[in-house]
Amino acid sequence: MSLRSNHRQWGSVIKCFHWIMALGILGNGVWGLLMVGMSPSISKINVFALHKSIGLTLLALLLLRLAWRLSERAPPDEPMPRWQRRVAHATHAFLYVLIAAIPLSGWWFNSVTGKPLQWFKLFNLPALTAKNEGISHVVRDVHEYLFFLLLLVLVSHVGAALKHHVFDRDNVLRRMLPFGRPRTPPEGDHR
Ligand code: HEM
Ligand code: HEM
Repeated sequence: MSLRSNHRQWGSVIKCFHWIMALGILGNGVWGLLMVGMSPSISKINVFALHKSIGLTLLALLLLRLAWRLSERAPPDEPMPRWQRRVAHATHAFLYVLIAAIPLSGWWFNSVTGKPLQWFKLFNLPALTAKNEGISHVVRDVHEYLFFLLLLVLVSHVGAALKHHVFDRDNVLRRMLPFGRPRTPPEGDHR
Protein backbone atom coordinates (compact mmCIF):
# COMPACT_ATOMS: atom_id res chain seq x y z
CA MET A 1 0.00 0.00 0.00
CA SER A 2 1.60 3.27 -1.04
CA LEU A 3 1.53 6.57 0.83
CA ARG A 4 0.40 8.49 -2.22
CA SER A 5 -2.76 7.90 -4.22
CA ASN A 6 -2.37 6.23 -7.61
CA HIS A 7 -4.62 5.56 -10.60
CA ARG A 8 -6.25 2.59 -8.81
CA GLN A 9 -6.73 3.66 -5.20
CA TRP A 10 -6.38 6.32 -2.54
CA GLY A 11 -3.00 6.42 -0.80
CA SER A 12 -2.67 5.49 2.87
CA VAL A 13 -2.16 9.12 3.94
CA ILE A 14 -5.54 10.19 2.52
CA LYS A 15 -7.18 7.06 3.93
CA CYS A 16 -5.80 7.84 7.41
CA PHE A 17 -7.00 11.44 7.20
CA HIS A 18 -10.44 10.33 5.97
CA TRP A 19 -11.14 7.70 8.64
CA ILE A 20 -9.46 9.38 11.63
CA MET A 21 -11.28 12.63 10.87
CA ALA A 22 -14.63 10.88 10.22
CA LEU A 23 -14.42 9.16 13.63
CA GLY A 24 -13.14 12.31 15.34
CA ILE A 25 -15.83 14.59 13.90
CA LEU A 26 -18.71 12.24 14.66
CA GLY A 27 -17.33 11.44 18.12
CA ASN A 28 -16.78 15.10 18.99
CA GLY A 29 -20.28 15.96 17.75
CA VAL A 30 -21.92 13.33 19.96
CA TRP A 31 -19.66 14.45 22.83
CA GLY A 32 -20.86 18.06 22.24
CA LEU A 33 -24.54 17.06 22.32
CA LEU A 34 -24.05 15.10 25.56
CA MET A 35 -21.90 17.67 27.37
CA VAL A 36 -24.35 20.58 27.04
CA GLY A 37 -26.79 18.80 29.38
CA MET A 38 -24.25 18.50 32.23
CA SER A 39 -24.90 20.44 35.42
CA PRO A 40 -22.29 23.12 36.24
CA SER A 41 -19.13 21.61 37.81
CA ILE A 42 -15.36 21.46 37.40
CA SER A 43 -15.70 18.34 35.29
CA LYS A 44 -18.10 20.17 32.97
CA ILE A 45 -15.38 22.79 32.37
CA ASN A 46 -12.85 20.04 31.62
CA VAL A 47 -15.26 18.19 29.33
CA PHE A 48 -15.95 21.43 27.40
CA ALA A 49 -12.22 22.15 27.19
CA LEU A 50 -11.56 18.69 25.75
CA HIS A 51 -14.34 19.13 23.17
CA LYS A 52 -12.76 22.41 22.06
CA SER A 53 -9.21 21.00 21.94
CA ILE A 54 -10.29 17.98 19.89
CA GLY A 55 -12.27 20.29 17.58
CA LEU A 56 -9.23 22.54 17.05
CA THR A 57 -7.09 19.47 16.35
CA LEU A 58 -9.59 18.37 13.68
CA LEU A 59 -9.40 21.84 12.14
CA ALA A 60 -5.58 21.63 12.01
CA LEU A 61 -5.82 18.11 10.50
CA LEU A 62 -8.13 19.51 7.83
CA LEU A 63 -5.48 22.04 6.77
CA LEU A 64 -2.85 19.27 6.56
CA ARG A 65 -5.29 17.04 4.67
CA LEU A 66 -6.08 19.76 2.12
CA ALA A 67 -2.37 20.49 1.62
CA TRP A 68 -1.66 16.78 1.01
CA ARG A 69 -4.74 16.36 -1.19
CA LEU A 70 -3.71 19.29 -3.40
CA SER A 71 -0.20 17.86 -3.74
CA GLU A 72 -1.34 14.67 -5.48
CA ARG A 73 -3.79 13.47 -8.11
CA ALA A 74 -6.97 11.74 -6.96
CA PRO A 75 -7.63 8.33 -8.50
CA PRO A 76 -9.82 8.73 -11.61
CA ASP A 77 -13.55 8.27 -11.00
CA GLU A 78 -14.93 4.76 -11.25
CA PRO A 79 -17.16 4.30 -14.33
CA MET A 80 -20.57 5.84 -13.52
CA PRO A 81 -23.11 8.16 -15.17
CA ARG A 82 -22.02 11.77 -15.50
CA TRP A 83 -24.75 13.08 -13.15
CA GLN A 84 -23.55 10.74 -10.36
CA ARG A 85 -19.98 11.93 -10.82
CA ARG A 86 -21.14 15.54 -10.56
CA VAL A 87 -23.24 14.88 -7.45
CA ALA A 88 -20.33 12.99 -5.84
CA HIS A 89 -17.87 15.85 -6.48
CA ALA A 90 -20.34 18.46 -5.25
CA THR A 91 -21.04 16.41 -2.10
CA HIS A 92 -17.33 16.01 -1.36
CA ALA A 93 -16.73 19.76 -1.79
CA PHE A 94 -19.69 20.49 0.51
CA LEU A 95 -18.37 18.02 3.12
CA TYR A 96 -15.04 19.88 3.10
CA VAL A 97 -16.89 23.19 3.64
CA LEU A 98 -18.88 21.70 6.53
CA ILE A 99 -15.91 20.15 8.33
CA ALA A 100 -14.19 23.55 8.24
CA ALA A 101 -17.31 25.54 9.19
CA ILE A 102 -18.24 23.37 12.21
CA PRO A 103 -15.05 23.89 14.27
CA LEU A 104 -14.78 27.51 13.08
CA SER A 105 -18.34 28.21 14.28
CA GLY A 106 -17.43 26.59 17.63
CA TRP A 107 -14.43 28.89 17.87
CA TRP A 108 -16.67 31.83 16.91
CA PHE A 109 -19.18 30.87 19.64
CA ASN A 110 -16.37 30.66 22.17
CA SER A 111 -15.21 34.14 21.08
CA VAL A 112 -18.61 35.87 21.34
CA THR A 113 -19.14 34.42 24.82
CA GLY A 114 -15.76 35.85 25.83
CA LYS A 115 -14.43 32.51 27.14
CA PRO A 116 -10.69 31.76 27.08
CA LEU A 117 -9.49 29.11 24.62
CA GLN A 118 -6.63 26.70 25.22
CA TRP A 119 -5.31 23.75 23.24
CA PHE A 120 -5.02 20.82 25.69
CA LYS A 121 -3.90 23.30 28.41
CA LEU A 122 -0.66 23.79 26.44
CA PHE A 123 -1.17 27.21 24.86
CA ASN A 124 -3.79 29.92 24.41
CA LEU A 125 -5.52 30.76 21.17
CA PRO A 126 -6.89 34.22 20.34
CA ALA A 127 -10.58 35.05 19.98
CA LEU A 128 -11.87 35.22 16.39
CA THR A 129 -14.15 38.19 17.17
CA ALA A 130 -14.95 40.53 20.05
CA LYS A 131 -17.25 39.43 22.88
CA ASN A 132 -20.91 39.87 21.90
CA GLU A 133 -23.35 38.06 24.20
CA GLY A 134 -26.27 39.44 22.13
CA ILE A 135 -25.61 37.08 19.21
CA SER A 136 -24.24 34.14 21.18
CA HIS A 137 -27.45 32.06 21.03
CA VAL A 138 -27.59 32.47 17.23
CA VAL A 139 -23.94 31.46 16.86
CA ARG A 140 -24.52 28.45 19.14
CA ASP A 141 -27.43 27.40 16.93
CA VAL A 142 -25.25 27.81 13.82
CA HIS A 143 -22.66 25.49 15.41
CA GLU A 144 -25.29 22.91 16.33
CA TYR A 145 -27.29 23.00 13.06
CA LEU A 146 -24.16 22.75 10.93
CA PHE A 147 -23.47 19.46 12.68
CA PHE A 148 -27.02 18.25 11.95
CA LEU A 149 -26.59 19.34 8.33
CA LEU A 150 -23.38 17.27 8.19
CA LEU A 151 -25.31 14.22 9.44
CA LEU A 152 -27.89 14.78 6.70
CA VAL A 153 -25.25 15.03 3.95
CA LEU A 154 -23.56 11.94 5.38
CA VAL A 155 -26.72 9.90 4.83
CA SER A 156 -26.29 10.42 1.09
CA HIS A 157 -22.46 10.11 1.22
CA VAL A 158 -22.53 6.79 3.08
CA GLY A 159 -25.61 5.61 1.18
CA ALA A 160 -23.83 6.23 -2.13
CA ALA A 161 -20.68 4.42 -0.94
CA LEU A 162 -22.74 1.38 0.11
CA LYS A 163 -24.81 1.43 -3.09
CA HIS A 164 -21.60 1.36 -5.17
CA HIS A 165 -20.23 -1.48 -3.05
CA VAL A 166 -23.29 -3.70 -2.82
CA PHE A 167 -25.20 -3.06 -6.05
CA ASP A 168 -22.66 -1.73 -8.57
CA ARG A 169 -19.90 -3.93 -7.10
CA ASP A 170 -17.26 -1.38 -8.14
CA ASN A 171 -14.19 -0.07 -6.28
CA VAL A 172 -15.55 3.21 -4.87
CA LEU A 173 -15.62 1.97 -1.26
CA ARG A 174 -12.85 -0.63 -1.57
CA ARG A 175 -10.27 1.92 -2.67
CA MET A 176 -11.02 4.09 0.41
CA LEU A 177 -11.17 1.27 3.01
CA PRO A 178 -8.08 1.02 5.29
CA PHE A 179 -7.04 -2.42 4.02
CA GLY A 180 -9.28 -2.50 0.98
CA ARG A 181 -7.87 -3.77 -2.29
CA PRO A 182 -9.51 -2.75 -5.55
CA ARG A 183 -11.10 -5.59 -7.51
CA THR A 184 -8.95 -6.68 -10.45
CA PRO A 185 -10.15 -4.94 -13.62
CA PRO A 186 -11.78 -7.20 -16.21
CA GLU A 187 -9.60 -8.71 -18.97
CA GLY A 188 -8.47 -6.12 -21.47
CA ASP A 189 -9.11 -3.17 -19.11
CA HIS A 190 -5.70 -1.56 -18.60
CA ARG A 191 -6.74 1.38 -16.41
C1 HEM B 1 -15.39 18.90 14.40
C2 HEM B 1 -15.46 19.63 15.45
C3 HEM B 1 -16.70 19.92 16.26
C4 HEM B 1 -17.93 19.32 16.27
C5 HEM B 1 -18.42 18.16 15.39
C6 HEM B 1 -18.73 20.01 17.25
C7 HEM B 1 -20.06 19.72 17.54
C8 HEM B 1 -20.77 20.27 18.59
C9 HEM B 1 -22.13 19.93 18.93
C10 HEM B 1 -23.02 18.96 18.16
C11 HEM B 1 -22.45 20.64 20.05
C12 HEM B 1 -23.79 20.63 20.81
C13 HEM B 1 -24.55 21.90 20.47
C14 HEM B 1 -25.76 22.14 21.35
O1 HEM B 1 -26.52 21.19 21.58
O2 HEM B 1 -25.92 23.29 21.79
C15 HEM B 1 -21.31 21.45 20.41
C16 HEM B 1 -21.26 22.32 21.48
C17 HEM B 1 -20.21 23.19 21.71
N1 HEM B 1 -19.07 23.32 20.96
FE1 HEM B 1 -18.54 22.17 19.40
N2 HEM B 1 -17.98 21.00 17.82
C18 HEM B 1 -16.74 20.98 17.24
C19 HEM B 1 -15.68 21.85 17.50
C20 HEM B 1 -15.72 22.88 18.41
C21 HEM B 1 -14.66 23.85 18.62
C22 HEM B 1 -13.33 23.89 17.84
C23 HEM B 1 -15.07 24.67 19.63
C24 HEM B 1 -14.38 25.86 20.24
C25 HEM B 1 -13.18 26.28 19.96
C26 HEM B 1 -16.38 24.22 20.06
C27 HEM B 1 -17.10 24.80 21.07
C28 HEM B 1 -18.31 24.33 21.52
C29 HEM B 1 -18.98 24.86 22.68
C30 HEM B 1 -18.47 25.98 23.61
C31 HEM B 1 -20.19 24.15 22.79
C32 HEM B 1 -21.28 24.32 23.89
C33 HEM B 1 -22.42 25.12 23.35
C34 HEM B 1 -23.45 25.39 24.44
O3 HEM B 1 -23.05 25.86 25.50
O4 HEM B 1 -24.64 25.13 24.19
N3 HEM B 1 -16.75 23.14 19.29
N4 HEM B 1 -20.30 21.21 19.49
C1 HEM C 1 -17.71 12.61 9.17
C2 HEM C 1 -17.70 11.64 8.29
C3 HEM C 1 -17.16 11.75 6.89
C4 HEM C 1 -16.68 12.84 6.20
C5 HEM C 1 -16.55 14.29 6.70
C6 HEM C 1 -16.29 12.38 4.90
C7 HEM C 1 -15.73 13.20 3.91
C8 HEM C 1 -15.27 12.77 2.70
C9 HEM C 1 -14.67 13.62 1.68
C10 HEM C 1 -14.48 15.13 1.81
C11 HEM C 1 -14.32 12.83 0.65
C12 HEM C 1 -13.66 13.28 -0.66
C13 HEM C 1 -12.20 12.93 -0.67
C14 HEM C 1 -11.44 13.78 -1.65
O1 HEM C 1 -11.81 13.87 -2.83
O2 HEM C 1 -10.45 14.40 -1.20
C15 HEM C 1 -14.70 11.47 0.99
C16 HEM C 1 -14.49 10.37 0.20
C17 HEM C 1 -15.02 9.13 0.45
N1 HEM C 1 -15.76 8.75 1.58
FE1 HEM C 1 -16.17 9.88 3.16
N2 HEM C 1 -16.53 11.04 4.78
C18 HEM C 1 -17.08 10.62 5.98
C19 HEM C 1 -17.48 9.33 6.30
C20 HEM C 1 -17.53 8.30 5.41
C21 HEM C 1 -18.09 6.99 5.67
C22 HEM C 1 -18.73 6.57 7.00
C23 HEM C 1 -17.94 6.26 4.52
C24 HEM C 1 -18.35 4.83 4.17
C25 HEM C 1 -19.19 4.08 4.74
C26 HEM C 1 -17.25 7.09 3.56
C27 HEM C 1 -16.88 6.69 2.30
C28 HEM C 1 -16.13 7.44 1.42
C29 HEM C 1 -15.61 6.92 0.17
C30 HEM C 1 -15.79 5.52 -0.39
C31 HEM C 1 -14.90 7.99 -0.44
C32 HEM C 1 -14.14 7.95 -1.78
C33 HEM C 1 -15.04 8.39 -2.90
C34 HEM C 1 -14.30 8.29 -4.25
O3 HEM C 1 -13.32 7.59 -4.37
O4 HEM C 1 -14.76 8.97 -5.17
N3 HEM C 1 -17.03 8.33 4.13
N4 HEM C 1 -15.29 11.47 2.23
